[in-house]
Amino acid sequence: MIQDNLFNYKRFVFLKWALLLTLVSTFAYLIDQPAIHANGGTWLGYTLGTVGALLILWLMWFGVRKRQYNNQSGNLRGWVSAHIYLGLSLAVVATLHAGFQIGWNIHSLAYILTLTTIGTGVWGLGFYLRYPAEMSNVLNRQSPEQIVTQIESLDREALKLVKNANEMVGRMVSLSLKQGIFQTRANQRSGKVKNCDTDKAVQFLQTEITKADNLSPIYMNQVQRLRALKQLRRYYHMRYWLELWLAVHVPCSFGLLAALIAHVLSVFIYW
Ligand code: HEM
Repeated sequence: MIQDNLFNYKRFVFLKWALLLTLVSTFAYLIDQPAIHANGGTWLGYTLGTVGALLILWLMWFGVRKRQYNNQSGNLRGWVSAHIYLGLSLAVVATLHAGFQIGWNIHSLAYILTLTTIGTGVWGLGFYLRYPAEMSNVLNRQSPEQIVTQIESLDREALKLVKNANEMVGRMVSLSLKQGIFQTRANQRSGKVKNCDTDKAVQFLQTEITKADNLSPIYMNQVQRLRALKQLRRYYHMRYWLELWLAVHVPCSFGLLAALIAHVLSVFIYW
């Protein structure tokens, strides 16, 4: 049996609704013969504008619905599936409503913010689909705090292990112990740290171990430290992008709401 996911939810029910809406709007646009040229002020323009505005309000309502943990109306997967497909169909409805008339005015601002919000939704979808599962896999069902605690205990062990080691080993390990998860915000963005001191200590100990057997425990300690650091780096890198895209998508949608209100008010004031 094929499992429901965001895209094929209930046999693509929301894809079908979105396609129907797109086809009906396009058909109406093609057969409509307005007196001047197609724009938001014809009967079809008003109809598509009303549908578009209701869609925007409903898409924004998702932020509220997501936080209503006791609400049983439809499951969240269904809501996200509908959000994606109907959100995409809004691009067609809004374009036809505007009748391809773009200028330097509040109406076009609302239109551009609509496309921008949809664009940010598409951009974030890749992160949203991949990262949450990968984030829990990369930490092996542990919390990031537990991994930090592991590193702290490895570091205490390392301090004991290097007491009798030579000066060079002591220096490399002591630099490694100061190495944090990331050095800069750019590191977190890319998920990579160039010149990582723990990585250097591991490389160094890997060659030293061939000369002195007693370095095995500190080598293992540093390998584990590096593995834990890499887990945390991958985790916080994914979390960065998940948080960043929502921090763009949500403000864009509020900007759109404000522009939509201004657009509707200005239409009725200057009627
Ligand atoms: C104008 C159109 C859109 C508006 C106004 C809108 C608005 C919103 C809002 C308010 C949220 C809730 C965020 C939160 O509170 O955490 C949200 C989440 C989301 N949106 Fe949109 N959105 C639009 C279009 C799209 C499109 C076209 C896509 C994808 C193709 C999309 C994908 C998502 C996803 C994946 C989430 C996160 C769901 C979750 O956290 O469970 N959005 N959107």
